[in-house]
Amino acid sequence: MSQQFDVLVIGGGPGGYVAAIRAAQLGFNTACCESNPYADPKGEPRLGGTCLNVGCIPSKALLHTSHLFEEAGHAFAEQGISVGTPRIDVPRMIGRKSEIVDKLTAGIKGLFKKNNVTLLKGHGAFVGQGAAGWQVKVGEEVVEARQVIVATGSKARHLPGIAVDNKLICDNIGALDIDAVPRKLAIIGAGVIGLEMGSVWRRLGSEVTILEAAPDFLAAADVDLSREALKLLTKQGLSLNMGVRIGEVKTSKKGVSIAYVDKEGKEHKLDADRLIVSVGRIPNTDGLDAEAVGLKLDERGMIEVDEHCKTNVAGIWAVGDVVRGPMLAHKAMEEGVMVAELIAGQAGHCNFDTIPFVIYTNPEMAWVGKTEQQLKAEGVAYKAGKIPFLANGRALGMGAPEGFVKMLADARTDRILGVHIIGAGASELIAEAVVAMEFGGASEDLARICHAHPTLSEVVHEAALACDKRALHF
Ligand code: FAD
Ligand code: NAI
Repeated sequence: MSQQFDVLVIGGGPGGYVAAIRAAQLGFNTACCESNPYADPKGEPRLGGTCLNVGCIPSKALLHTSHLFEEAGHAFAEQGISVGTPRIDVPRMIGRKSEIVDKLTAGIKGLFKKNNVTLLKGHGAFVGQGAAGWQVKVGEEVVEARQVIVATGSKARHLPGIAVDNKLICDNIGALDIDAVPRKLAIIGAGVIGLEMGSVWRRLGSEVTILEAAPDFLAAADVDLSREALKLLTKQGLSLNMGVRIGEVKTSKKGVSIAYVDKEGKEHKLDADRLIVSVGRIPNTDGLDAEAVGLKLDERGMIEVDEHCKTNVAGIWAVGDVVRGPMLAHKAMEEGVMVAELIAGQAGHCNFDTIPFVIYTNPEMAWVGKTEQQLKAEGVAYKAGKIPFLANGRALGMGAPEGFVKMLADARTDRILGVHIIGAGASELIAEAVVAMEFGGASEDLARICHAHPTLSEVVHEAALACDKRALHF
């Protein structure tokens, strides 16, 4: 007889492993199947998905190392510290990153054991419906589950005619394993990966050129924030070329050559040692045999779900990158918990209006809620408070005076509608804004809270005060 489970999760990334742990905590006999793209040397599948293996965690490790390198080379001297010219040992940097990945992916296996989640090794594909629930083939075995959560995530989108070998031409996988500092690095796509990976290699000495099709830089961000980011990143030496059209890409022993047309229609050829293609991601639904159970996909191959991650088939749910919404690990985890709790009959929920976005450049960028241009387009009357980090003692002490906090609040009710931060520690500072917005807070609520001095969080406090035109330090 086939193995039977209350809940089967397909995919062990942040959406899947969190859903599995929560389902098991709620008393369900739970299994999670994971195919094997990031196998360890023994051939065992690594849990953690894109995020832990080839996404969030390794990229942040490289961002940290390259930041320290840049600080040692440029910022130390200003503070009276001389260390000579720093040198980077790239294999050691990559090795450290891989050790962190090993530790964390093994940690998820430990969490599965602790929570009694059964790990099934192999690719999951729908077969049909049996007496005990949905039938899913995992490897060679067919298992049955009353409830199935699809969390198969996403993979890099590639461009026609540009063959990714993850050596010379890389997507996110190869970009996190480059073994020497490229003299010239080309990147197609000035999105999140382009800016983060471009920052890593620029700090380590590469001449980085980013080619972006869209006319506007970071159009999804608040217009003040994207303008400031463009100014600061360009000053650091990233060459950001907007509105380009990519032509033929050729490889040779010497490297890669990219033909493109700029926004004025002028033709160019860019020669580089390596190319990173970071033009968005596509859902992993091929090989899932969704049609075997009548699961509806949209035209982009994403599984169609409602706001509770319910698919069109009762007892089948889908979470994370494989469904609509931002492709973010914390969004995937939030949905995973929500679905497990809904299966248990609880009131699981996910507030899509308060999902924070972070870009881990230096300075960091982070935001939550509406941008100023969205409020204008929606005809919402709002007030704004904007305070630069330059006015903050802690930021100056840290040598990080760039950027600002901008708070947008409803002109009538004072409810916070959006917070946009570019500056040191933005990824942590945004949490206060998320909490305030989740509680339906007003700018006055934050203005009346005592913030420790001297901290960067005082800039958030001052921005709240500035919404009422009563900033004290600016
Ligand atoms: P995934 O993490 O993609 O996991 C899906 C898992 O399912 C994979 O392990 C896959 O092997 C498995 N699988 C697929 N199909 C099957 C099948 N049929 N059977 C069995 N298993 C299957 N997000 C952030 O929030 N912060 C960041 O800083 C951040 N940085 C990123 C940096 C990079 C370079 C990249 C590429 C992404 C980054 N992301 C970041 C995005 C984040 O990684 C994803 O949003 C997140 O991993 C999505 O989680 P998921 O569980 O939906 O899918
Ligand atoms: P992205 O969607 O952030 O950016 C892709 C960029 O490529 C866009 O600006 C787009 O206009 C451009 N583009 C598309 N086609 C192009 C073409 N033919 N020529 C030139 N430019 C083109 O996607 P990215 O950077 O690949 O990252 C994928 C996803 O991974 C992100 O959307 C995000 O969800 C997630 N991620 C999140 C991070 C974070 O939270 N800090 C870090 C890295 C990735």
